[in-house]
Formats: sequence, structure tokens, C-alpha cells
Amino acid sequence: MSPKLATSSHIPVLLEETMKALAVQPGGRYIDCTVDGGGHALAILERSSPGGQLLGIDADPEAIKAARAKLEAYRKAILLVNENFANLQAICIKYDFFPVHGILFDLGLSSLQLNGNGRGFSFQHDAPLDMRFNPSQDTTAADIVNNSSEAELSHLIRTYGEESHSRRIAQYILRERPIRSTLHLAWTVERAVGRRRGRIHPATKTFQALRIVVNRELENLETALKQTIEFLGFEGRLVVISYHSLEDRIVKRFMQQEARGCICPPDAPVCVCGRKPRLKLINRRVITPSEAELRLNPRSRSAKLRAAERLVNQDDGYATAEVTSFLAKAETRAWRKPVLLKKLEMVFLAA
Ligand SMILES: C[S@@+](CC[C@H](N)C(=O)[O-])C[C@H]1O[C@@H](n2cnc3c(N)ncnc32)[C@H](O)[C@@H]1O
Repeated sequence: MSPKLATSSHIPVLLEETMKALAVQPGGRYIDCTVDGGGHALAILERSSPGGQLLGIDADPEAIKAARAKLEAYRKAILLVNENFANLQAICIKYDFFPVHGILFDLGLSSLQLNGNGRGFSFQHDAPLDMRFNPSQDTTAADIVNNSSEAELSHLIRTYGEESHSRRIAQYILRERPIRSTLHLAWTVERAVGRRRGRIHPATKTFQALRIVVNRELENLETALKQTIEFLGFEGRLVVISYHSLEDRIVKRFMQQEARGCICPPDAPVCVCGRKPRLKLINRRVITPSEAELRLNPRSRSAKLRAAERLVNQDDGYATAEVTSFLAKAETRAWRKPVLLKKLEMVFLAA
């Protein structure tokens, strides 16, 4: 299960590292694609004050309610949207919120989801086997568990849970069906693979797999990442915190590809793809929690932060003549001043 909190009080993961990677500054404009209860969002608003603005997105309507309460003091500076971040492009255009100084993704589960709000994410609390971030989605975890074939279940548990006992677990699930509650599923997995050894519950990987499938987490992440670049202003930052290797692989591959630009085969004599780098990596090596953070919040242990900065090429359509002259001024980083940002926005909209 993706880690978040040691207790019910929320501790934003890698908080200082995230603020530094986003280069949060007064008057800046940010998108938090996973706003949840507003932990990182509050820190962004505090540090971008005066004049900062934040667009907060979350698929879970309960998270939006919690964020609204927590960020009340900044109500004039925030826009909260109950949406899937896979629709980032449509959201930015609808609310006219671009270009921005930074975009944050803090993937995984919220404290509310993890700590048993009856939504079926946790094997530690009995609840209906649901796992939908947004209750208006069609498919629940119970639908998948009870309607998939043994081969399908085995495949998804192995692929999305990286579980080596997937076949055996699928066999036991089929024998136990119908399975409608979290504890029934956790018990079934435990029977299939044996009792917990160490701190990790044997059902951890199966629950992770189901949650990823129910919420199409990997597809949504890939879709959203591709949409981020056009909404980042020059030198705008993209920061992603992930909690398992499947997510991290997607983030790493995306950032590396965009930082490389050219996708021609290595043996091609000249570049024919014409692609230019659109991102610059901020941290070549992934950032992980410090010893102090791990002591305070042990469930942050699998967090990995990657960050990149937007590059603008003279010929990528975004760079009109006006932007080109603007870029000269940007040498001084004066662009970070809101008035210049406004100017860039006007150019961007006119392009
Ligand atoms: C780990 S929590 C974020 C915690 C937040 N950074 C904080 O400090 O309070 C992850 C949040 O992302 C949301 N989420 C996951 N996938 C999403 C998606 N595709 N679209 C929108 N929100 C999503 C979840 O509902 C959850 O509330």
C-alpha cells in the first residue's frame, strides 16, 4: 500500500525538498495535481505569498472538501477542482490557468483514504472492496476480484503488484468468491501466501495492484505528464513524488526523454526527428527522505522525488518573436516577477 502517514495527522512527504525543487517564490503560480488535504498546497501558498496562486486538483471529492477547509485563509488565491489530473490540459484551459511556475504530483493514497474512511483501500479496516478515488467511477475492486478470470487476476497482481505469488493468490481468490470486503480479501491472500513476515502485510502487493487497476493510475500518470510541459512557463518546474517502482519508472523515463530531445536511433548519422529537449533535469539522482523524516514519518520510506525545469526552444511554436525578446530579458530571471509572467501569458494566449 502506498505510504503516507504514521498517524491520522497528515505530514506532507519531502516537504522542504519539494518546495526547493519547485523553487516556490512570491507571486508564483502553481498547480498541485494531487491536492488532497492541502499539506503541500498550504506550504506553497505560504511561500508564494504575497500574490501567489494555486490550482488544486484531486479526483476524490472528500479530498477537495478537506483542502477547502485547510486552505480557507487563502481562499482568494486558490481554485480547487474535483477532477482527474489526466484532464490537466482541459482544466488549465477551462480555468485559464497557465503558464505556471510549477506543477506538483504527490502520487499514491491520501491519509483519509489510507486510514479507513470506508472506501476499501486498506486491509487494516473492514470496508466494502471499493478503492475508487472518485466514487462516480464505474468499476470497483470488488467488480475486478469477482468477475475476472484466474489468468486475468494472476496477470494483474503480478504486473501491478509485482507479486511473485500471483498465480496462487488468484487460485485462492477464485475458490473464495464472492469476496466483497477488504478483510475477506486480506484473509484470502494470507491463506494463499502465508502469514506476514516482517513489517509488510502479505496482502500489500495485491491491494496495490487492484488500486492501480481500478483507478487506471499508470495510464493517468502517463497522460498527465505529457500535458504538463505546454503549461509550464520558461524555467517552470515539474516535481513528482512517487511511491513504487512502476510509477517512478514512468516519471524517470518521461523526464529523461524530454531532457534528451532527439529520439533517433543511436546509430543514425544525423538527427531526422528534429526533437529538441524541452526539460532539464534538476536532480540527476532521485531524492529520498532523510533519516530525520523517516524517523518522524516511517511511511515516507518509499517516496522518490524527481524534478525537471522547462526549457523553451526558439522554434517550438511557443517561442514567437515576442517570446524570443522576452527570453532575452529572462536571462536575469526577471520573468519570475508577476508582471512579466502576465506578459508571457498574453503572448502565449495570442500564439
Ligand atoms: C498522497 S495524496 C497527496 C497529499 C498531498 N500532497 C498533501 O500534502 O496533502 C494523493 C492524492 O492524489 C489523488 N489522486 C490520485 N490519482 C489522481 C488522479 N489521477 N487525479 C487526481 N487526483 C488523484 C488522491 O485522491 C489523493 O488524494
